[in-house]
Amino acid sequence: ETIHLADYTPPGWLVERTELTFRLHPTATRVISRLRFRRNPRAPEQAFFLHGEDLTLISARIDGQEITPEVTDKGLTCDVPAGDFTFEAEVEISPEDNTRLEGLYMSGGIYCTQCEAEGFRRITYYPDRPDVMAPFHVRVESDMPVLLSNGNKAGEGEGWAEWDDPWPKPAYLFALVAGDLKAHPGAFTTASGKDVELNIWVREADLGKCDFAMEALIKSMRWDEEKYGREYDLDIFNLVAVSDFNMGAMENKGLNIFNSKLVLASPETATDGTYERIEAVIAHEYFHNWTGNRITCRDWFQLSLKEGLTVFRDQQFTSDMRSAPVKRIEDAGLMRSHQFREDGGPLAHPVRPESFVEINNFYTVTVYEKGAEVIGMLHRLVGPEAYRKALDLYFERHDGEAATVEDWLRVFEDSTGRDLSQFKRWYSQAGTPRLNVEESFKDGTYTLTLEQQTPPTPGQERKLPFHMPVAVGLLSPNGDEAVPTQVLELTEPRQSFTFEGLGARPILSINRDFSAPVIVTRKTTAAEEAFLLASDTDPFNRWDAGRALARRTLQQMMHEGSSPSHVYLGAIGQVLAEHGLDPALRARLLGLPGEDELAADEAAAGRAADPARIHKARESLKDAVARMHVGALQRTYMEAQTEGPYAPDAEQSGKRLLANAALSLLSRGDGGDTAREQFARADNMTLSLGALQALLSIGSGEAELAAFEERWRGDELVMDMWMSQQVQLAAPERALEVTRRLTEHPAFNAKNPNRLRAVIGALPANAAGFHDASGEGYAFLADWLIRTDKVNPQIAARLSTAFQTWKRYGERRQEMIQAQLARVAEAEGLSRDLREMVVRMRAS
Ligand code: ARG
Ligand code: ZN
Repeated sequence: ETIHLADYTPPGWLVERTELTFRLHPTATRVISRLRFRRNPRAPEQAFFLHGEDLTLISARIDGQEITPEVTDKGLTCDVPAGDFTFEAEVEISPEDNTRLEGLYMSGGIYCTQCEAEGFRRITYYPDRPDVMAPFHVRVESDMPVLLSNGNKAGEGEGWAEWDDPWPKPAYLFALVAGDLKAHPGAFTTASGKDVELNIWVREADLGKCDFAMEALIKSMRWDEEKYGREYDLDIFNLVAVSDFNMGAMENKGLNIFNSKLVLASPETATDGTYERIEAVIAHEYFHNWTGNRITCRDWFQLSLKEGLTVFRDQQFTSDMRSAPVKRIEDAGLMRSHQFREDGGPLAHPVRPESFVEINNFYTVTVYEKGAEVIGMLHRLVGPEAYRKALDLYFERHDGEAATVEDWLRVFEDSTGRDLSQFKRWYSQAGTPRLNVEESFKDGTYTLTLEQQTPPTPGQERKLPFHMPVAVGLLSPNGDEAVPTQVLELTEPRQSFTFEGLGARPILSINRDFSAPVIVTRKTTAAEEAFLLASDTDPFNRWDAGRALARRTLQQMMHEGSSPSHVYLGAIGQVLAEHGLDPALRARLLGLPGEDELAADEAAAGRAADPARIHKARESLKDAVARMHVGALQRTYMEAQTEGPYAPDAEQSGKRLLANAALSLLSRGDGGDTAREQFARADNMTLSLGALQALLSIGSGEAELAAFEERWRGDELVMDMWMSQQVQLAAPERALEVTRRLTEHPAFNAKNPNRLRAVIGALPANAAGFHDASGEGYAFLADWLIRTDKVNPQIAARLSTAFQTWKRYGERRQEMIQAQLARVAEAEGLSRDLREMVVRMRAS
């Protein structure tokens, strides 16, 4: 049942044209297909097979002749003519009973689809693989007022609509939506003068929350023309928001479908962070039109070909729209907190996995974010101009194709003349490389020696050296830049680089801008870290130095009983006083590493992580900062107030981020008075939620929680925030009780992915609560995995990743986690999705 990259074989038949008719009905939808097949001259001899799962076959015909195919729970086989032929079938499906949210399902009275990766086979019999691409013609019959599918509108009448998509596409990009929806309209004229109709489809009540998403869409369309020379290629672009959605959003050709939380926004209901995410995801899905749709993937092992590239493109977009350094810190922070965790545990896999049981389990931070980092490294190695030339060649050479990582790297090799064979290891070797640093200085010459080493990961004992760009700068002791940023190319296991003509021993600033996704292991001192935090010209490394300094003091507090370091506290004081610095950056510099990251550090140092102790140390460090810097925090808070009407732009949101960061510290000293006052006067969600968070973190906020609930009980997306904040910020000993209580709250719904993530998914984010020594957190999660698996296996599999860090903890906790994983493994009728995850996490 394991599928291997090495076993790829081209499809025996290609589809020349796909015609579908849908007679929609909540429990008995009929899907009538007419597929024109042609033998693939480049494929080996094979039996004719169409994927199909949970379908009721009503009838099938080949060239008009009724046939009786052989049907299994995976699909259908039948004898076919030697030449071209037409296959027709009628099947019945039940959208209302589809709680997995894969294929065609009903969500709040709306019919919608999610076909990536393998959902189309739950709609009809089809070669459901991305290397089979066809133009689609779709007829939808229903009394729903709005009937949508991919491509351009081909006709409509009372109770029907037809859509025609001229661009050949794989089945995973198919989409259909039908419901009582209203359009927020927009328009775009492409660079070559083509008018495109834009619509964002939502429930009537949400029409007022679409402006920002529409603006983001228009900005994305313009940006892709300017930055990549890519124009939109249909007459219409539709985007739909739905409440029940397994992931963030989906790039179906001409008909993007979104989780409503990534579309709907108003100042009162969405935070600045939500606005930023909406802008990025709208861009991401739009950019897929070229990187994903026009050029798709040959097979699912190549997933990062479209996802890594499209994440890289959306990161570039956000850097252009907002602050590039802040965006880089956010992305690097995500790599460190989430991707390094995955890469260092039982779920580690290469950016291009070599085998899988359930492909949905590989829509991961490794495939997405590390995949984007790999492209970022390529971009840095060849430079922006050569990168653009390579991309032009990629689009020219592979448009209309289902491509591979090899194809992708070949365009870079052909257009730059570089040999990327060693670089390619980033796609096949899992694990986070460690970069060990040695320095020496003599007679004005500074020598930097880098040694790379990557620990083993499941199934990969030995690693070969990577080819990586390491951006380095040297600072002189007075804070000037002695050697501005240079990109060193590391290819050997150990390699030295020299810098001559220096007046004094320089201070090293290494892996600037997070140039390579590695862990730098290096002996430094608190003084050096404080120096870099104060003086580095590279914003990412300033942030990184602050982190290192915080970790250092937290470790001393935990293991040596020390009080918070004066060096750290002093450095924070300097950051607070740096009035000229971008507020968003200042806010980031004030943040502490998360408890989960600190647990990873403990394990890396060979100690069993103690979540309660980590929590306590982190809390007392915050107390110390708050005590020491009351005055500066108050000034910062005042300085960070915004004026004029709310705008979710980089400038205002940076200020609010800083105001909320200061507020959370201030609350430790004033019993929450400032936060209560902010909560009372807030006219936007960023300030309300910031105040609520500050209160919850000091064990207060009961009245505010109640007021919040009273005001927002009718808004599911706002209630998600209300629920998840309570869980995440509960005192560890109360976390489980709070979570349990919320599963009984009327706003909770165990069938809705957003609710499950907001409540069950939030518990592991309260590390000390989840890892409570009683083991009750583990048992609670296991119960919910078993229960959720029956409803929605994809979500259950996702929630199970909370157990991936089990090895970091002491023997007792390890045993308790393993016992829960064993219990899940034995549950009856376990899905393929959850079973694969559990198997991987149980194998040591
Ligand atoms: N391609 C979509 C995106 O990157 C994600 C869809 C994932 N869906 C899934 N069932 N795994 O935005
Ligand atoms: Zn994507």
